[in-house]
Amino acid sequence: MGNKSLTLIGLGPMGLAMVNTYLDNGYQVTVWNRTAAKAEPLVARGAVLAPTVEEALAANELVVLSLTDYDAVYAVLEPAAGSLSGKVIANLTSDTPEKAREAAAWAAKHGAKHLTGGVQVPPPLIGKPGSSTYYSGPKDVFDAHEEALKVLTEADHRGEDAGLAAMYYQAQMTIFWTSMLSFYQALALGQANGVAAQDLLPYAKMQFAMMPHFLDLYAQHVDTASYPGDVDRLAMGAASIDHVTHTHADAGVNTTLLDAVSAIFHAGMDKGFAENSFSSLIEILKKQAG
Ligand SMILES: NC(=O)c1ccc[n+]([C@@H]2O[C@H](COP(=O)([O-])OP(=O)(O)OC[C@H]3O[C@@H](n4cnc5c(N)ncnc54)[C@H](OP(=O)(O)O)[C@@H]3O)[C@@H](O)[C@H]2O)c1
Repeated sequence: MGNKSLTLIGLGPMGLAMVNTYLDNGYQVTVWNRTAAKAEPLVARGAVLAPTVEEALAANELVVLSLTDYDAVYAVLEPAAGSLSGKVIANLTSDTPEKAREAAAWAAKHGAKHLTGGVQVPPPLIGKPGSSTYYSGPKDVFDAHEEALKVLTEADHRGEDAGLAAMYYQAQMTIFWTSMLSFYQALALGQANGVAAQDLLPYAKMQFAMMPHFLDLYAQHVDTASYPGDVDRLAMGAASIDHVTHTHADAGVNTTLLDAVSAIFHAGMDKGFAENSFSSLIEILKKQAG
């Protein structure tokens, strides 16, 4: 059982929400932030502001980091590396899987254990039911601190490899950014035709609601590396994406995104996948041998 005491470094919108959630749940929280003034409302609620990073690290075994990126992590921790021995760093800073692996090795060199975290929700959802965070790193370390981590969100341990939590996080963000761009693209077409976003919205929602059906089917294709063209043929898809692109071009809408999508469809056609499902496009996207 944890002792309901931890250190949290980094008081951006995410770190502030986290500290407030810990305070709401009766935790003793020691904080440190480059801009110390951001800690004032937390100190008023009972948090302790450590004057130095060294003192913040010394206060607790569990140290939660919520910084902009891993460059900021080193900027904060490197000068205090001598105080890291014996610490568990729950690094909820987003960055790449490679940087997470390097940070885990760096922490180990200084005698600390590293858990990588990828928070899936924005600050207002911290401490709220249904929120989740990917974790990866040593399972025994995760288990020992799961109770404290679960105060923030559900804690989903994805494996021992330090990079995995970051990979899951970036995979999710891949879907988020590209699908949101597709939404804006559709709204731009609507605008060019005098149709407001609010009028397209119910149809966009309907399309997103249909997506799980496609995800289930095509994930099977990808895992079995078989792309039967029984439901859809790439040749049909390539003709369709051309119609989409021309519709936007005719309306004077920017086609940068659609040109990129179209290029991938036509690369699949050039590879001879016309009679396969468009799930065969994974063969274009995936890491190529050699
Ligand atoms: N906000 C979200 O919606 C959201 C959602 C999911 C995940 N995340 C991830 O959670 C992390 C924190 O998010 P956030 O929104 O709070 O980010 P943020 O506003 O960028 O966090 C800034 C924190 O990093 C510190 N910092 C940045 N560069 C520094 C440096 N060189 N030296 C020392 N401290 C430095 C800032 O200190 P100062 O206060 O002194 O500037 C502040 O404490 C990020 O990795 C973000 O990707 C955020």
